[in-house]
Amino acid sequence: MEETTDTESQQVLLEKKKEVVEKKKTKDSGATKKVDDGKPIIESTTLWDYPKQSYGKTPKGNNKYAGVTPAFIIYNMVMRYTQPGDLVVDPMCGSGTTIDVCKEEGRRCIGYDIVPTRPDIIQNDARKLPLENESVDMIFIDSPYGDNIKYNEHPANFGEISAEDENFYKELEKTMAESYRVLKPGKVIGWLIGDQWVKKKFTPVGFKIWAGLSKYFETVDIICVTRRNQSSNTGVWHYRAVKWNFYLRGFKYLFIMRKPLAAGGDQPTNGDKVAWTRYDR
Ligand SMILES: C[S@@+](CC[C@H](N)C(=O)[O-])C[C@H]1O[C@@H](n2cnc3c(N)ncnc32)[C@H](O)[C@@H]1O
Repeated sequence: MEETTDTESQQVLLEKKKEVVEKKKTKDSGATKKVDDGKPIIESTTLWDYPKQSYGKTPKGNNKYAGVTPAFIIYNMVMRYTQPGDLVVDPMCGSGTTIDVCKEEGRRCIGYDIVPTRPDIIQNDARKLPLENESVDMIFIDSPYGDNIKYNEHPANFGEISAEDENFYKELEKTMAESYRVLKPGKVIGWLIGDQWVKKKFTPVGFKIWAGLSKYFETVDIICVTRRNQSSNTGVWHYRAVKWNFYLRGFKYLFIMRKPLAAGGDQPTNGDKVAWTRYDR
């Protein structure tokens, strides 16, 4: 239970009233329509905002799973960057949202996780994918953003490493290299990630992940997705953010990156010792 002062309590009440008004506005506004004929709309801008996790008659993933991905994001990636029958891979599949979206859209999908939550998810560490070179049509990853969520106790869980620790990026880069290896040239990876502000310290997790991805892939675009359902999305935290002059996280990034085609522009940019010759390209 949070302790609040009298002034805080009054502010919290005010914030709650505002929230109710905003929610009503959102409900009434045609501009916020996210589903058409039971399917999500295909987004036309780089700002995406989803009031709920799933759509349609059947659930996509498990909305009780901590850190579950809005199915709308995966739907948009699948519809824009794959064709029916294509192979989609999610190396950190969590509650299986990617599998469910793909199944409904006629895409083949392999979902891995370090601790599978259901039988159709294969146990695997994302640093090594048991797949052939250049065999995959799209990868989607919503990785841990640091150690803010307790996913499981597995020692290889990236979610046990703080985003303030350089090892977090070093270990995730192994997944980037593997993603590069298994993706077909010209195909796309989508990586969802959020920044961190903990104990008065900001960490630009998104920029650091993008820097890692950029060693392997070219940027197609960068999307901002509104962060909802956060434990800090309460009146008291909004009050504190203003009073103590900090910001609550309002969005996360979706980096849409493409594996370059063989000719031109496909060399690593920072001289890192990536064993490029290992890969038949
Ligand atoms: C943000 S969640 C993914 C949520 C998922 N997209 C969904 O909709 O349910 C991140 C996942 O990464 C998994 N993970 C963490 N470290 C991993 C590793 N080394 N290899 C594979 N999966 C890992 C966690 O177990 C967790 O399920």
